[in-house]
Amino acid sequence: MQVVISADYEEMSKAAAGVMAKVVRDKPTAVLGLATGSTPLGMYKELIRLHREEGLDFSGVTTFNLDEYVGLDGSHEQSYRYFMTENLFKDINVNIDSTNVPPGISDDFKASCAAYEEKIRDAGGIDVQVLGIGSDGHIAFNEPSSSLASRTRLKTLTQQTIDDNARFFETPEDVPVYCVTMGVGTILEAKKLILLASGAGKADAVADAVEGPVSSMCTASALQLHPDSIICLDTAAMGKLQMREYYQWVQDKRPGAPRWD
Ligand code: F6R
Repeated sequence: MQVVISADYEEMSKAAAGVMAKVVRDKPTAVLGLATGSTPLGMYKELIRLHREEGLDFSGVTTFNLDEYVGLDGSHEQSYRYFMTENLFKDINVNIDSTNVPPGISDDFKASCAAYEEKIRDAGGIDVQVLGIGSDGHIAFNEPSSSLASRTRLKTLTQQTIDDNARFFETPEDVPVYCVTMGVGTILEAKKLILLASGAGKADAVADAVEGPVSSMCTASALQLHPDSIICLDTAAMGKLQMREYYQWVQDKRPGAPRWD
């Protein structure tokens, strides 16, 4: 795991956008895995700036989002499809037909989740997957106790996640209880993972994910099993890491370090 430390949210967002932009420049037909929530907003803002001011071209890109609430269609303001349109898609030149969000409405979730997985495979797999982390250590909506081999499926949110996400809804009762989410196994198949975390509220979950045992009780800890995962943190989110001085040391030494890439 590569831990990238930034002074604050803005610097973290720019570091993460830099990783994404490199993937798109190196491979104009890249398949991007995207996340919603508060954390990636600054990264999306920077990607929009890179598109407008530096010509970052998304026209050949395909995207797959991690998750969607059950019962909300794409026109609902709290749906993740709506979030992506408002916060990224409408401001870059991605072909909207090449953007994918798991189905929030379906007559047959089993079949539509299997179709989502097949579509990812048909696209050649995900080149880079953006992840946030829940205060309970979830990635996507893989709540504690989710199988580390899980695939895209229906999940029931924990009360903690419902409470965390209530800020986006008029009342906590409006937060959907069910969602469709990529599984941990699906996420681990992406060629590169980039997890973003900001603020002291994420410090415990980040410590469990980076330095705790690999466990379904913190599904973000599965990133320890991935050969190319980047953890982008601001100083508040890294506050509980035991090895934080080492990560800083590595980062300071990196410009002169031997490389093979
Ligand atoms: C969103 C997602 C979730 C969030 C996580 C953190 O697509 O998959 O795992 O990344 O709940 O949310 P924020 O960034 O709002 O703290």
